[in-house]
Amino acid sequence: MPQAPIEFTIYPDQCDTWGHLNQAAFLQFFERARWEHLARGPGMEIFRAAGVWPAVRRATVDYHAQVLPGDVLRFTQTLPALGRTSFTMKQAAVRAKDGVTVATAEVVFVCVDPAGSPTPLPDQVRSALSMPTDGVTRRTINGVTVALEERGSGPAILMIHGYPLARTLWRHGVDHLPGWRRIAPDLRGMGESSLPDGPASISDYADDMIGVLDALEVKRAVVCGLSMGGYVAFDLVRRHRDRVAGLILISTRAEADTGDARRGRDESAARAAAEGAVAIADSMLSRLFAPDSLTRIPGTVAEVRSGILAMPVPGILAALIALRDRPDSRPLLPTLGNIPVLVIAGAADVITPPQGMHAMAQAIPGAGYVVVPGAGHLAPLEQPDVTTDTIARFLRKLP
Ligand code: MLT
Repeated sequence: MPQAPIEFTIYPDQCDTWGHLNQAAFLQFFERARWEHLARGPGMEIFRAAGVWPAVRRATVDYHAQVLPGDVLRFTQTLPALGRTSFTMKQAAVRAKDGVTVATAEVVFVCVDPAGSPTPLPDQVRSALSMPTDGVTRRTINGVTVALEERGSGPAILMIHGYPLARTLWRHGVDHLPGWRRIAPDLRGMGESSLPDGPASISDYADDMIGVLDALEVKRAVVCGLSMGGYVAFDLVRRHRDRVAGLILISTRAEADTGDARRGRDESAARAAAEGAVAIADSMLSRLFAPDSLTRIPGTVAEVRSGILAMPVPGILAALIALRDRPDSRPLLPTLGNIPVLVIAGAADVITPPQGMHAMAQAIPGAGYVVVPGAGHLAPLEQPDVTTDTIARFLRKLP
């Protein structure tokens, strides 16, 4: 249950003689963050009302970096496992000023009755603990503070957004794919994820996704990528096939940029550098949506526009270079027969039109192909029910 981070400032009286945050004081911060997290979520009262109490059975802490007086620590909590009588909370403490993860903890709770014996988690506690929240967690991966939304438990699905977008693209799927652990990160330099110095390649974005899976201890995931997210998915299959349990390719393409397209990327980069993100919003917005969506869902269109305007220009430039220089993934397509693949096209997509998507699906042995009516390039936002339902049907058939 991701939630907004909980912040504490460190004072000198919590530090040892070397001036570092003392580990016993650190444990107290983890405790306070856990308490605050539960209080902000289901509320501690839910346990009392059910006549049970969460007792800590095991706590493991890893310290990664020193913390000094004046540092502000941001604590995030997730609940990766909800058992019959127990649940596990993972915690991370991140130094606010530089995004470095300074410590991580894993705490296993057992639900106990008034006599102190383990007892099954009452239904109301179970559903409160797994309730959705609109929060986000942050992980430091490859020098990037990656913001990600994680919801539910079960086999994992990694949802990778396109350019110039953010994880909010997947909002409907994150809310409506029960039985799956839905993981939706912001790519570096987009949404709320940071951007390290220097250029990026599609493989850098893919390496971050592997870092996300590692950080969440996910061995294999169904990878669902839209457009640039699809290019990242191809790279994951190319270099980390053992991590990919299935592939959902939405509004994307396998071929590399043509000469004209490459020049177009350079022109967009020059305009973004000169005029800012507004140049990208103005040139792309009407092409991202089906003409009908522009008038049917103006709120969503406005939200995407604000998201683009909020994008830092270095994030735009890094993505444009990575898109421009991405490799041709067509040779990969005939080799995908051992992975379940679903290709989803938007019927009115002008960026990756259905004809090209269909040809891509035909080049992948056994791939499914679905066209979403009334959708342009952003089917998960334009036709969320149909798109999520199409994904859910594919997931249900997986071994
Ligand atoms: C995207 O949605 O990620 C972009 O349209 C990809 C591209 O421009 O190739």
